[in-house]
Amino acid sequence: MATSDIKIETERLVLRLPQWEDFDAYAELFGDEQAARFVGGAMGRAAAWRKFLQQPGAWLVQGFGMFSVTDKHTGEWYGQLGPWKPEGWPGNEVGWAFRRAAWGKGYATEAATPAIDWAFANLGWDNVIHCIDPANIASQALAQRLGSTNSGPGRLPPPLDDHPIEIWGQTRAQWMARRAEENAR
Ligand SMILES: CC(C)(COP(=O)(O)OP(=O)(O)OC[C@H]1O[C@@H](n2cnc3c(N)ncnc32)[C@H](O)[C@@H]1OP(=O)(O)O)[C@@H](O)C(=O)NCCC(=O)NCCS
Repeated sequence: MATSDIKIETERLVLRLPQWEDFDAYAELFGDEQAARFVGGAMGRAAAWRKFLQQPGAWLVQGFGMFSVTDKHTGEWYGQLGPWKPEGWPGNEVGWAFRRAAWGKGYATEAATPAIDWAFANLGWDNVIHCIDPANIASQALAQRLGSTNSGPGRLPPPLDDHPIEIWGQTRAQWMARRAEENAR
């Protein structure tokens, strides 16, 4: 399958590669002080355009990147989530950021589960991490919900090295055991 055709469907969501029509909703997320606080801070549309192109660029040249997470029925763009490993990154991350209107509905959990499955099935990773600011309670709750644990402070590469982060994560074996348990229920 061509990378551009990758599509994951869940009960309520479709995960697919970013497309140009996602940009308005993306710019809304990254223009929102509260939503963007832990993902680089709020920015205007011109700066958001540059950032927006990082994910399609990662998909094109690295073969993976964050998915656009959209509503299965309306196509509304809720956020982005998926594998992310820039140069100098402290590990194999699955990261996430959703528009405020989409918070608290279980969407991130619903999207993260098949996205982590996809990463382990396709990228040869032995583990997965999530780099999370110690003040980001919602993101920590999501990591915990996915079975990850906090292994303590880490460091992002410059120019992000002054952002405090902790490294949450789990091994491939832990994830597989958890998924097998869920499927057996
Ligand atoms: C982190 C984020 C993706 C969570 O998305 P979400 O769709 O609201 O998460 P879910 O509804 O799937 O919830 C996952 C778990 O986190 C909990 N949770 C979510 N938001 C919470 C909050 N503000 N405080 C405490 N717990 C919270 C939920 O209760 C759930 O746990 P449970 O299943 O045990 O009840 C979302 O808050 C977000 O996009 N934040 C802004 C961007 C950001 O900071 N990204 C992370 C950078 S590391």
